[in-house]
Amino acid sequence: MLETLPQVPEDSILGLAAACRADPNPDKVDLTVGIYMNEEGVCPVFEAVRLAQQALVDEETTKAYMPPAGDPVFNHGIQRLVLGADSPALADSRVSSIQTPGGCGALRIGAEIINAAAPGARVWVSDPTWPVHIPLLGSVGLKFETYRYYEPASHGVNFDAMVDDLKQAKQGDVVLLHGCCHNPCGADLTLEQWGEIAEMAAQQGFLPFVDIAYQGLGDGLEEDAAGLRLLVQRLPEVIIAASCSKNMGLYRERTGAAIFASASPTSASALRSQAQVAARRIYSMPPAHGALLAGRLLADDELNGNWQDELQAMCRRINGLRTSLVSKLELCTDRDFSFIEREKGMFSFLGLSREQALALREEHSVYLLESSRINVAGVNGANIDYLAEAVGKVLLSH
Ligand code: LMR
Repeated sequence: MLETLPQVPEDSILGLAAACRADPNPDKVDLTVGIYMNEEGVCPVFEAVRLAQQALVDEETTKAYMPPAGDPVFNHGIQRLVLGADSPALADSRVSSIQTPGGCGALRIGAEIINAAAPGARVWVSDPTWPVHIPLLGSVGLKFETYRYYEPASHGVNFDAMVDDLKQAKQGDVVLLHGCCHNPCGADLTLEQWGEIAEMAAQQGFLPFVDIAYQGLGDGLEEDAAGLRLLVQRLPEVIIAASCSKNMGLYRERTGAAIFASASPTSASALRSQAQVAARRIYSMPPAHGALLAGRLLADDELNGNWQDELQAMCRRINGLRTSLVSKLELCTDRDFSFIEREKGMFSFLGLSREQALALREEHSVYLLESSRINVAGVNGANIDYLAEAVGKVLLSH
């Protein structure tokens, strides 16, 4: 029965990371998967996580199943982290959440809830968006429309075009937004533009679904969540997929949350019950370890302070790398790369053709996505000159 199943192509992101790992060139540069790497090229464990983990190992008394909604301490903390401790929606008890296996699990649970309320609903996704959004949400049965977002010529958001396209989004439609640090382009909305989207959602009745996987890696924890907080403040319903992969470095622990801001405490509770049933259908209950660590980072004042300091240092370093990269690239090419400094988070497009991106990989072992998306957090003092020179050579020869 199973022999009819063919081999499928490698994942466009994870497959490239594997190809880079297999490349014997000692000068290779891995700018593929969105993970933070330090100056030594290592994706480090946060010191606060290490401390929380040590305490957990000493104190843990059971490996019994987690409750269906996950760890209550984690749920409490993540709602406050994302929505703000002083969120009126939290004060009104119109928010609920469940702990999920990573931000991907949160996206899938959000999609299940949408599909339960409006089977086959249309989801408007930005052009471009993270490629996994489509299979993750589509596997539930949701359909897609695209709104224009990133404009390669100006290396920025074409907000007029976005608004123009979203004028067609109706009651019963969903608009998927990147909370901050847009993946793949790094170009974010201004707070004023978030306000306009909120106004459109209020007028037209579409539901915003916000994927926030990089909170704290753009401008800071509060700043990066300001847009989505504005939506929650002004609209009766918003679904949020939050992740602790990047901002706590818990990638492999699969720690995230599906958060539902809804019109009343009754519907918040109903949505949690729906989400629990959806989770039970797919994976029963979430994994414990990452959320127990994240819960400690969110609930313990000292650990929280340590974690925020480390995260801020990470964020500053990424922004510093953006500045250095612009000057190095401009030394080696005759192009203007200043847009990289205006963009946020881990990703930017270099603005190269597919052929140039492939040449970087094949001729210089510089691994970036075919779209020319780079993980800025993969750049360091040891590879930045090599990278900039390789880009310069490829731009001359291709
Ligand atoms: C990325 O876009 O590189 C990250 O979100 C990791 C992933 O799962 O693709």
